[in-house]
Amino acid sequence: MVKRPLVWWEGVAALVTALALVLLVGFTWEASQSALLPPPAAHTHHRPPLRGHPGLYPPPAPLLDLPAISLVANTPACDTSPFLLVLLVISHPAHAALRDAHRTYVSWETLNALGARRVFILADGSKGLQVDYPTVPVARVLQESGLHRDLVVADFKDHYRNLTYKHALALSWATHFCPHARYLLKMDDDIMVDVWGVVKLLQAGLVVDHWGQVHPGDSGHRRLEPEGIWVAGLVQRGLQPQRGSGKWRVTKAEYPRHIYPNYLAGWAYLATQPAATAIMRAASNATPFWIDDVYMTGTVAVAAGVPRYALNKHYTLMRGAATCCLEGPHQPLGKPHPWPSPAPLCGLLVAPSDKNVTILKAWLTTARACHEGRGCPSPPPNSCPPTRPHYGVGTVIALS
Ligand SMILES: *[C@@H]1O[C@H](CO)[C@@H](O)[C@H](O)[C@H]1NC(C)=O
Ligand SMILES: *[C@@H]1O[C@H](CO)[C@@H](O)[C@H](O)[C@H]1NC(C)=O
Repeated sequence: MVKRPLVWWEGVAALVTALALVLLVGFTWEASQSALLPPPAAHTHHRPPLRGHPGLYPPPAPLLDLPAISLVANTPACDTSPFLLVLLVISHPAHAALRDAHRTYVSWETLNALGARRVFILADGSKGLQVDYPTVPVARVLQESGLHRDLVVADFKDHYRNLTYKHALALSWATHFCPHARYLLKMDDDIMVDVWGVVKLLQAGLVVDHWGQVHPGDSGHRRLEPEGIWVAGLVQRGLQPQRGSGKWRVTKAEYPRHIYPNYLAGWAYLATQPAATAIMRAASNATPFWIDDVYMTGTVAVAAGVPRYALNKHYTLMRGAATCCLEGPHQPLGKPHPWPSPAPLCGLLVAPSDKNVTILKAWLTTARACHEGRGCPSPPPNSCPPTRPHYGVGTVIALS
C-alpha cells in the first residue's frame, strides 16, 4: 500500500473525534458520580443526613444462628428526638417499584407530619437464583440507598427461606438504631397499610378486651401501654404446617408438631420496643424455623411471654375485598370519616396488594383522601366479598 500524507480535513476529523470522546467519557463519569450523590437540596431537607453517623456500621455481629452479619447499607432515619412509629418494611432488592410506590404515595414528608419514619429491610440479592426474583447487584442497591437513605441492607443471602433472619434483623435494627420510636410496625413491601389510620389508632390509645381484641380509646378495658410488652395484629390460630409440596412445604424435621402456636401474620403487626427486645432475647439462642411469622410471633413470643392481641377485624386476607371497597361510591366531599373509627376504608387497615403497584397506589391515595376529609368510598352493605376466609383467623383467642 502506498503511504500518502494526511490531508488537512483528516486531521480536523481526528481532532473532533478525540474531543467528542473526551467529552463523552467525562460526561458519563460525571453522570455516574451524580447518580451516587444525594439528590438536590429541595428534595432532601426532611430526609436524614448521610454524614456524621459513624455508629451506623458496627463490626459484624451474630444474628440468630448466623455467626457474623454486617450491614452493607444503613440509615440514620431515626433521629434522636422521640416519635410515634417506625415502619419496618421487609423488602427484596428486586422490589424497587414497590418501594418507590410506598415512597411516592406515603412520602417522607407525610410520614414526618404523622410522627412516623420508614425503613426498608433488605438482604443480599446479588447471589443465587430464586424463582420470580432476578438477582440485583449490590451496587444498584447502594445507589438506591444513596438516593433515598431509607435502606437497611444486610450481607446474608436474600431468600424466602431466610425470611426469619430478615424479620429478626428488622426487630434488632429497631431496638439498636431506632430506640426513639415508641411503636414498631413490621410489615411486608407488598402489604397495603392505612398508615394514617394506624397513627390515629395509636394516638387514641389502645385497650384490650377479655377476648384479646384491641380497641381504640381508654375506657372500660385494660390499657396497652407503649412501655408494655405486647404485639398486636392478625392473630392466626390453629393453623397447620403445609406438609404437601411446593415452595412453602414444611417437613417434619423442620417442624415436628401438628399445629402451629397462635401467631400474628407477618404481613403487618404492631410491637412495642420492650416486646421487640424480649422477642430478640428469646430468639437469640435458638435454631430458627424458616416460616418467620410462626417463629418470631409464635414460638419465640410464647417462650418470651409476649402476649399477642388481635386487630383482626381491621385486616383482610383477600385483595378482592380491598379493591371492591375502593371501587365503592364515595361519600360527598368535605365529610371526614367520623371518629373514633380509625379505619375509613371499609373498616380495613391492612390488605394484600399481591405486588400490584396500581392497587397499592389506589389504596394509599384513597386512604389519604379519606383521612383528609376529601371523601371515602362506602360500598353498599354486603356488596363486597367477605373480608376474610373463616379458617385460621380467630376473633376469640387465648391470651397465652
Ligand atoms: C441464608 O443466608 C445464609 C448466609 O448468607 C446462606 O449461607 C444461606 O445459603 C441462605 N439460605 C438460603 C436458603 O439461601
Ligand atoms: C393490577 O390491578 C389492576 C386493577 O385491578 C389491573 O387492571 C392490572 O391488570 C393489575 N396488574 C397486574 C400486573 O396484574
